[in-house]
Amino acid sequence: MGSFRPDATVRPAAAFYPPVSLLDSTMSEDSAQLAAAVAAVRQHTDLVPEVALVLGSGLGALADEVEDAVVISTGDVPYYPGSTVEGHAGRLVLGQLAGRPVLVIQGRAHAYEGHSPRALGFPIRLAHALGARGLILTNAAGGVNPAFGPGTLMLITDHLNLSFLSPLTGPVGEGETRFPDMSNPYDEAWRMRARNIALTHTIPYREGVYVWTAGPSYETPAEIRFFASAGADAVGMSTVPEAIQAAALGVPVLGISTITNPAAGLSVTPLDHSEVLEVGRAVRDRLATWVRAIVAEGV
Ligand code: HPA
Repeated sequence: MGSFRPDATVRPAAAFYPPVSLLDSTMSEDSAQLAAAVAAVRQHTDLVPEVALVLGSGLGALADEVEDAVVISTGDVPYYPGSTVEGHAGRLVLGQLAGRPVLVIQGRAHAYEGHSPRALGFPIRLAHALGARGLILTNAAGGVNPAFGPGTLMLITDHLNLSFLSPLTGPVGEGETRFPDMSNPYDEAWRMRARNIALTHTIPYREGVYVWTAGPSYETPAEIRFFASAGADAVGMSTVPEAIQAAALGVPVLGISTITNPAAGLSVTPLDHSEVLEVGRAVRDRLATWVRAIVAEGV
């Protein structure tokens, strides 16, 4: 597509992959890049994931529970947007979790890393192309709602896109809707099942609205007051582009935030990424139990 410009962080295809231009001249550049990425994964495994899970900062441990795991470095997947953040391993793990085939994505692309808006949806387009029929998004987030302290698990009910970026910017991708409906961004029926599972396993959780900012600077106290007045309960720098991408592909989404810190102005101490990683580690067992049980039920 003439207007499509790969962003600066797109990797050149590894030597054994044909250049995208030679793959299929009838494909758009976007489709050809996706096809090259799928082909790279398929060199390692033919597993068709039922669910794809994106693991947020410090929440990567769940990937270690995957059985019969095939681990692929995202650096070996052509056009995969590279991960540069501590706490994000840059791996795709395909295997069985709770007896179901899964793709665990430990390599989230964030806007602040310099990726184009389109690139933020690439891991989700890849998951969909590999066969995933449901998407579980986890993240670390700041608590905007003062009742949501560090360690709170928050089932995401809805979001506010205050980055005003979209992974759908550009030509319409394969299988995508140009103007996707966003009235059920975090699937209501799936959320209902997640609630029941939490009750069964006595996992305490809250529900709320997640607001996406592009980062990487944390918010100012004035911004947090503004977000709270707009109805936000948690703030973070991810998840929303992935949910938008999934909506465009018709893939249902479940989102869970781990509140790692009070948002700016709600605590006397300055924010620090190490605090985010530490709290993520502390609650990961509860989150892992919940997610495992959700996966076990299927999409
Ligand atoms: N703000 C934005 N992103 C975050 C925060 C925060 O307070 N905590 C974890 N991710």
